Amino acid sequence: MPNMENSPTQEEINRLYYLERVIKETLRLVPTIPFILRYVDEDIKCDPYIFPAGSNIVVPLVLLHKNPDVWPEPEKFDPDRFLSNEVAKRHRCSYIPFSFGARNCIGLRFGMMEVKIMVATILRNFKVRTVGMKSWKDIQWEYMVMLKVKNSRLRFEKRKF
Ligand code: HEM
Repeated sequence: MPNMENSPTQEEINRLYYLERVIKETLRLVPTIPFILRYVDEDIKCDPYIFPAGSNIVVPLVLLHKNPDVWPEPEKFDPDRFLSNEVAKRHRCSYIPFSFGARNCIGLRFGMMEVKIMVATILRNFKVRTVGMKSWKDIQWEYMVMLKVKNSRLRFEKRKF
């Protein structure tokens, strides 16, 4: 029988290493919050540019996370980009799905844990398939405050135990 009752322990969640990399790679390609906005309160030099005090800037996470200088084959889904030896090669701000600095996401750890539990619980109990799609690249997105899926359809089939 499918088991939705048996909640995973904290220790089990911590051991979902591959799932964690899959979630991180998903947030790279599809950051839930695609753009963050900041007010510049003093001139910032960013050679050869200057962001002048008093301006508003948009930090497009969707583009930052696909910078080909940092991410080889940026459109390729590859969870192993988040193996610790690979992470160590990159600048800490090259990947910021939870933003960075004083106003970053306070729900970072909770959010990751929540997604891990949700995905693990669903996959333990259901086989999930897309309907009418060959690749995640067929998904159409709506760029709002949060990134929304426009056309995805999924089929859930209960696993037999
Ligand atoms: C995968 C899940 C999540 C993602 C990707 C995410 C992403 C973000 C990002 C990018 C920001 C910065 C927005 C900005 O600078 O304009 C943010 C801020 C924030 N997040 Fe999250 N978040 C997630 C889950 C959560 C959860 C679960 C909570 C609460 C339990 C939460 C609470 C907040 C709060 C309160 C802020 C505002 C912080 C501030 O302005 O000081 N988030 N989040």
